[in-house]
Amino acid sequence: MRVEGKHRFATKYFIFIWEPILNVWAVIKIAFIKNFISHRATRDDVAPQSSILNPRSFSDVFANKNPSNSCIQDFLNAAVFLLPDSDTARLDVEIALKIALNVDQGYLYAHPEQMLLSDEKNNLIELLGQRKAGKPMAYLIGYQEFWSLDFKVNEAVLIPRQETELLVELALKLFPQHDLLKVADLGTGSGAIALSLATERSAWQITATDISENALTIARLNAEQLGVSSVRFLRSNWCDQLVDGPYDLVISNPPYIAQNDTHLQMPSMRYEPRKALIAEQDGLADLAIIIQQAKGLLNSGGYLLLEHGYNQGQSVRELFVQHRYQMIETRQDLSSKDRVTFARKK
Ligand SMILES: C[S@@+](CC[C@H](N)C(=O)[O-])C[C@H]1O[C@@H](n2cnc3c(N)ncnc32)[C@H](O)[C@@H]1O
Repeated sequence: MRVEGKHRFATKYFIFIWEPILNVWAVIKIAFIKNFISHRATRDDVAPQSSILNPRSFSDVFANKNPSNSCIQDFLNAAVFLLPDSDTARLDVEIALKIALNVDQGYLYAHPEQMLLSDEKNNLIELLGQRKAGKPMAYLIGYQEFWSLDFKVNEAVLIPRQETELLVELALKLFPQHDLLKVADLGTGSGAIALSLATERSAWQITATDISENALTIARLNAEQLGVSSVRFLRSNWCDQLVDGPYDLVISNPPYIAQNDTHLQMPSMRYEPRKALIAEQDGLADLAIIIQQAKGLLNSGGYLLLEHGYNQGQSVRELFVQHRYQMIETRQDLSSKDRVTFARKK
């Protein structure tokens, strides 16, 4: 009886005390094994490339220790980590590879294992080093797409922005016919607006002006490259040299950023010409001059279309009212921000 009692006590003792302890131990063991396996898998995955996945500099990407660092795919994988401030890091590296190797996108995908030559490596280090310092990709590769056309750009001109396509779109809607119109694009920069209009409306007589001779040189090169001969280029301080009016349409994307605007601190903006970006009077000075001068240049019924800052719609409309324009309207860009205001001369 006593033995039986002891046995029952031992069973109870095991069930209530040891079993929970053993269960907890089993759970810890499983967790440990799982962790070990996943840790091993992670390390195994990156082990051959660990030096290039966290490279400290572009030269590290090509460290001689690991020759596999120098093929297209490895370079691509590694270099994107070097551009943490770029929203388009992978695209930037692909573009740099296309330029350095003088190949197209398809080639990069078809030959990921191709080793890079030392000249190519040096070019890539130079290009991406400048990109990392904030230089816009468009200046590095020398062109920017606008209105589905390639525009040559350098640091003498603003890089044409996608939101400016709204100006082109509105001009084409306001004058849907291929009538012979006289058009002035003030502050043409790379020629983006004038030349895009010219490719759509071959009968329009377009004059593109800028105060910067260097900008006009680029605009002329773009006209040549795009095969456009219907645009005349003229150096002018806004409307000063436009003495052959009246015009049916005046269009402009003038400088409109206030001097103290914090966006000017963005690394990419440091490379663009100040004269193309900044205007006095909280960014409104050039808009005001153009609204005033264009009044004397336009036909009765002619339109003035202006791009401006997202917070300047109200002020620009007031300027149009002051100068007695009619049918004043503001339109929003793709981010639903006020971007273009236009009006008709009475
Ligand atoms: C914002 S950029 C626009 C460039 C181009 N139209 C575009 O949309 O990409 C403004 C342009 O106005 C020119 N500009 C600045 N002040 C000017 C002035 N007083 N008269 C004529 N052009 C001027 C600059 O040189 C620059 O090319």
